[in-house]
Amino acid sequence: MAEERIFLSPPWMTGEEMKLVREAFASNYIAPCGPMVDRFESAFAELTGAAAACALSSATAGIDLLADILGIGAGDTVVCSDLTFIASAGPFSHRGARLVFIDSDPATWNLDPALVEETFAGMSRRGEPLPKALVAVDLYGQCADYDALETCCSKYRVPLIIDAAESLGARYRGRPSGSVGIAAVSSFNGNKIITSSGGGMLFSGNSEIVNTARRLSQQSREPFPWYEHARVGYNYRMSNIVAAIGLGQLGRLDEIIARKRRIFGWYRERLEGCGGISFMPEAGYGECTRWLTVALLESAVTDSGDVPSPMVRKVLDALDRSNIEARPVWKPMHLQPVFRDCRLVGAGGTPVTERLFADGICLPSGCGLTEDQVDRISGIVKESI
Ligand SMILES: Cc1ncc(COP(=O)(O)O)c(C=O)c1O
Repeated sequence: MAEERIFLSPPWMTGEEMKLVREAFASNYIAPCGPMVDRFESAFAELTGAAAACALSSATAGIDLLADILGIGAGDTVVCSDLTFIASAGPFSHRGARLVFIDSDPATWNLDPALVEETFAGMSRRGEPLPKALVAVDLYGQCADYDALETCCSKYRVPLIIDAAESLGARYRGRPSGSVGIAAVSSFNGNKIITSSGGGMLFSGNSEIVNTARRLSQQSREPFPWYEHARVGYNYRMSNIVAAIGLGQLGRLDEIIARKRRIFGWYRERLEGCGGISFMPEAGYGECTRWLTVALLESAVTDSGDVPSPMVRKVLDALDRSNIEARPVWKPMHLQPVFRDCRLVGAGGTPVTERLFADGICLPSGCGLTEDQVDRISGIVKESI
């Protein structure tokens, strides 16, 4: 019999989530909003140290609301991490903003704060309007360098948004991920560190921003007994049933992170140093959740164009033939056809993000993985390189 497919990062459910879903059904709050949404938001705000949190249909919706709140429109500039999923940049693009992408720091894989400073300083020197926002992405469970980014953003008065879609539970100098800037977003889609089946959270140390986002996410309805709208909003709220799943998962976050880190350790024991394999470094300033175990497969190819290196494709194919899902690292935004006219700020030479994309591979990292399965996956990787 064929082995069951091993997915990249499937959900890891126990009875706790189901118990809360049953409770939500029993209360008959089968609606957007309801007690589970309130409980999920409070528990999330407590865990992240935020003043408030607003549960939404996705993290993308959260970024869109922040773009609206900041009044971003045609002709504005938004600066964003280059190595990310398109949702970090998409909502600004929809509003006609011009995107500028920032190369990664090889020590963290997150955007390089020195390049952010250089970008802002250059704009200021040339008398250009400064960006309407900086979107810093916490990649693969690791926080960006918050202190350096915050210093730079305060100096130039640029609002800082943390795209913490991938970093729930990570720490920066002891502080929770997403705890800087004007606001942050988290994602609970199917493969994230916790899932609610789909959903997101906008959270902030500033409850006014969260309250504005909440009103906007509910069609911007004013607090009147009738339907009153001073402006046009969105329908971005999370449903009560979805929140019950998220709440159940949130209660298990520590256990999930411990498993993710253990799985990373199993891969490292088996693969580090073999045929030039290395892993995403853990920044000295924090603790990475290892939401995904991401490896670099050193290859002799110096420029594989805008596709992963032949070595990465060979390993992906070999894993797929064994019914195992793995994926390349995010394709940098500046290589995306849709952003071909956007500027990338790098330190010169081949951008770091291009190398990470060429040589990077995200290995299966689901919490249900056994050591035997990691052994098998590692064996296939070793045989293919
Ligand atoms: C960095 C990053 N930002 C944003 C998102 C979007 O999250 P969602 O699917 O909840 O809209 C994702 C999820 O894939 C992501 O990885």
